[in-house]
This record gives sequence, structure tokens and C-alpha cells, in this order.
Amino acid sequence: MAKKVKDRKEKKVVEKAEVKESNSVLTLASFVSLVAFAVLCMIVYNIYTDVVHVPEMPTFDLNKRWGANTTKPEDTSIRPYRIVFSDSMNLEIRWLFEMYRRYEMKKSFNDTAWTYGVHSEAFSKIFNHWIFHYDFANRERFLNQFEQYKTKIQGLDIHYIHVKPKVEVNVKVLPLLLLHGWPGSIREFYEAIPLLTTERPGYNFVFEVIVPSLPGFGFSQAPVRPGLSPHQIAIIMRNLMQRLGHKRYYVQGGNVGHIIGSHMATIFPEEVVGFHSNFPVNFSKYAQWVWVLGSIWPTFVANENVDRMYPLGRKLKFYLEEFGFLHLQGTKPDTIGVALQDSPAGLATYILDRIMIFTDPANKLDPDGGMEKYYTYDQLLDNIMLYWISGSITTSMRIYKEIFEDSDMEKMIELIPTSVPTWGARFKNDLAYTPDFVLKWKYPNLLGTSNYNVGGHLAAFERPNEFSESIFQAVKAFVAFSK
Ligand SMILES: *[C@@H]1O[C@H](CO)[C@@H](O)[C@H](O)[C@H]1NC(C)=O
Ligand SMILES: *[C@@H]1O[C@H](CO)[C@@H](O)[C@H](O)[C@H]1NC(C)=O
Ligand SMILES: *[C@@H]1O[C@H](CO)[C@@H](O)[C@H](O)[C@H]1NC(C)=O
Repeated sequence: MAKKVKDRKEKKVVEKAEVKESNSVLTLASFVSLVAFAVLCMIVYNIYTDVVHVPEMPTFDLNKRWGANTTKPEDTSIRPYRIVFSDSMNLEIRWLFEMYRRYEMKKSFNDTAWTYGVHSEAFSKIFNHWIFHYDFANRERFLNQFEQYKTKIQGLDIHYIHVKPKVEVNVKVLPLLLLHGWPGSIREFYEAIPLLTTERPGYNFVFEVIVPSLPGFGFSQAPVRPGLSPHQIAIIMRNLMQRLGHKRYYVQGGNVGHIIGSHMATIFPEEVVGFHSNFPVNFSKYAQWVWVLGSIWPTFVANENVDRMYPLGRKLKFYLEEFGFLHLQGTKPDTIGVALQDSPAGLATYILDRIMIFTDPANKLDPDGGMEKYYTYDQLLDNIMLYWISGSITTSMRIYKEIFEDSDMEKMIELIPTSVPTWGARFKNDLAYTPDFVLKWKYPNLLGTSNYNVGGHLAAFERPNEFSESIFQAVKAFVAFSK
């Protein structure tokens, strides 16, 4: 009898334990689903704030001063300007060439091409050209072939090329602002300018081009205080166009010029009649998700241009390897700046290394860095000389610091779509590729793209013909669209 009772008791205990267990399974399940629900809510909220919700356009001070404080009213005059390779610069650079040759740098390893950075053999060739064949007087004349001016905008002297074409009566002249990038300069456009300012069959318009040096680059003054991020430069560029009497105008940009141009189209949609970018990209969180998830089915995302986005691992490795400069310049531009400002050879190698990789990443495996394949040494050295004689490398690199420091505002403006008709020119070896449907998040009036099987990130400099052709195509579409 006693045993039976005990048995029953035991059974009860077991039953109780089972009930308890299923209870805890129930609470665990509800807990998990609660967490899942919360996570889902967060994702939806995130997508909403980042993709669907469009932030309101902030109001900007369009007259913010970037120059030294003064109580005098702004001098709005437009002054002619000429680039000068002065005698003292000449003496100094030749002396520095000598110093560098005397303490010649260590030779690079054999057979490593440009994988350790600029190879010493390749650099020796360019350096020799600089010393013995780069004709200073001749290059000075070359650089002054287009009319240049300076005018004060928001306290900063802004330098720019201005070329007005001579045309027949029935040909329209359209103002076009060309925005260079880093480590470029106005020199990027010298081959393209004549192509853009000359009539071509099939088009009843031609361009009047305005090519500014960005603030802190070349002969444009740098700000005296921090904060001149791309959207603030966009305001300066807009004010420059107003100063020149252009109420409505076209904008073209690549590299940081793309960021500035895109901001102009966003902040001044009533003024920018069309925006042409040769770096049509989107680095937002969701654009990156599309890129990562797209690796499951690459052709779905990139169509025939799969190799410009994938394989994902190889691309990520490339960015990790090659974007150290972005980190460095985005954090401590002034430190590296001292070294580059002190040595022509140092300045040249730092810039050439970027031009090598921006032109075609495969150049890294070429003993000559692909330099002669795409450019003449004179072309490359002109660009370096503009940095050297203006002593502007440090202030030019600060643009990356300002992008990072002001990233909240920069990102916010990027989230605001623009109705300005837009066109993308994609070159084969550019640093990134964004599919059309992603570009349309920002540019709903993306009227088209030109896709080239040649060229890289410095399209105007390397491929002036395709670059100019694409601008003519784009503007034809812009004109038809706004009719
Ligand atoms: C110059 O102007 C800025 C902005 O208006 C102000 O913050 C700064 O204190 C002024 N600096 C001097 C030296 O007056
Ligand atoms: C590197 O190349 C040079 C010239 O071809 C040759 O003289 C030298 O021995 C090579 N060095 C090594 C370590 O192979
Ligand atoms: C990039 O994509 C985001 C969506 O994640 C969009 O809101 C934004 O306008 C785009 N920006 C650019 C510059 O294309």
C-alpha cells in the first residue's frame, strides 16, 4: 500500500516537472518572438528613417565667411590671373632635386612592380624627366593657354578657368561648371576643354566652361577655420556661378567633384539644369546591403557589369588595401602634409601612387605603374607642379577630414533626392559601381548612363574624348527633358 502511494507521488512529481518544462518552453518562445518582433520593428524603423523618410532640407547661410574676419565689404571684382613658375621657385625646386639625388632613396625590390608603392626604377624615369626634360617655361605657357581669373567668394579668393566659345548665330552656348577631385586639379580638364567648347555635328549647342580650383587646391585660397565640407563648397561654387551672371547652369563632377556637384543639384535644384557625374555612386548603408546581398545573385544586381562589383571578397580586399590614404587624410592631413610639402619627390610619389591605382588597379603589377600607357610625363608633372608651386597639398587633403567631421550633415543631404535631370558616365576601371536602380533613389530623373569599356576614375584626364562625348549626350537629353 505504502509503495503504491509513493509511486503515485513520484508520478505526480514527474508530471509537474513536465508542466513546468513546457511552461518554460512557452515563455522562451514568446521571449524569442518578442525579441524578433523588436528587432523587426527596429529594422523597419531604420529602413523608414534611412530610405523612405526624406529629411527636410536644412537652411544654409549662403554668405558664410571662410576667410579672415574683416569689417570691409566684400570685393566682388573679377581679376585676370596667370600661373607663374617664378625664378625663386625654379631655384628652390632644382636645389631640392639635387638634395634628393645626393641622398638617393633605397632601391625597391626586383620584380615587385608597384605592390610596395611607387617603384624606385619607375620613379627614377619620371624624376629624370622632371629634371632634364620638363621645360618649365614651356609648361608655364601651356598652363596659361586658357583665360583664368580670381574673385572673392565668402572671403576666399577663388581661382578659375573661363573659356567662352565663338559660335555661329544658331548655336546655343550653355554654361558648364567642371569640378575636379583629389589628387587632381584644373589640369584634369585641359584636353577636354577644347572638345567641349567646339561645335560638333549632331548638336546645336556648345559649352562655355568654368573650371574652378576647389578652395584649398592650387590657387584658390583655403579656409582659415575648419568646417568647409563638400556641401559648404557647393555653396561657394554656386555663388561663383552667380557672380559670373549664370542663374542657371550645368554641373559636371567626378571624385569629390561628384559629391560637391550632387550637393549643388540637391540644394539648388532651381539653378542646376542638369548634373553629369563620372563617379555615379552610392555608399549608403542600403546601397551596401544591395551590394552584399547581391553577391548571391550578381547578374541580378549588376547585369553585364558583374565584374565591376564582384567577387565581393576581392573587392573588399581591394578597398582595404588601397583606401589607407582616405583614413590618413580623413584624420591627420596636416601630419603627412608636412612631409609632402617639404619634398618634390615625396609629393610626386604620393600623388602618382594614387593616379596609378585610380586609373587601373591592374597597374600595380606593371613595372612602370602603367604611367606611360595612359599619360605623358608632362601631363602628370603639370598636375604635381600645380600642387607644388601653390603649396596646397595639406589644405587639399583636409577635404577628407571635413567630410568625416561633418558626416551627419553630409549624409543627411545625400538622403534628399533631387529632381535635377542626371546622367552617369561609367568607366571600366572606376573604383566603384552602383546599378541604375540604386542611383534612382537619389536621382529619380536619371535620364541615362554612358558605359565605357575603357578608362578609370580620372575620366577627363585619361579619356577626354569619351568624357566629352558623354557630356554632349547627357546635355542633349537634359534639354529634351526640360522642353
Ligand atoms: C571671426 O568670425 C567668426 C565667425 O563669425 C567668429 O566665430 C570668430 O570669433 C571671429 N574671430 C575673430 C578673431 O574675431
Ligand atoms: C635585381 O636586378 C638587378 C638588375 O637586373 C640585378 O643586378 C640584381 O642582382 C638583382 N637583385 C636580386 C636580389 O636579384
Ligand atoms: C543613396 O541611397 C540612399 C538610400 O539608402 C538614398 O536615400 C540616397 O539618396 C542615396 N544617395 C546618393 C548620393 O545617391
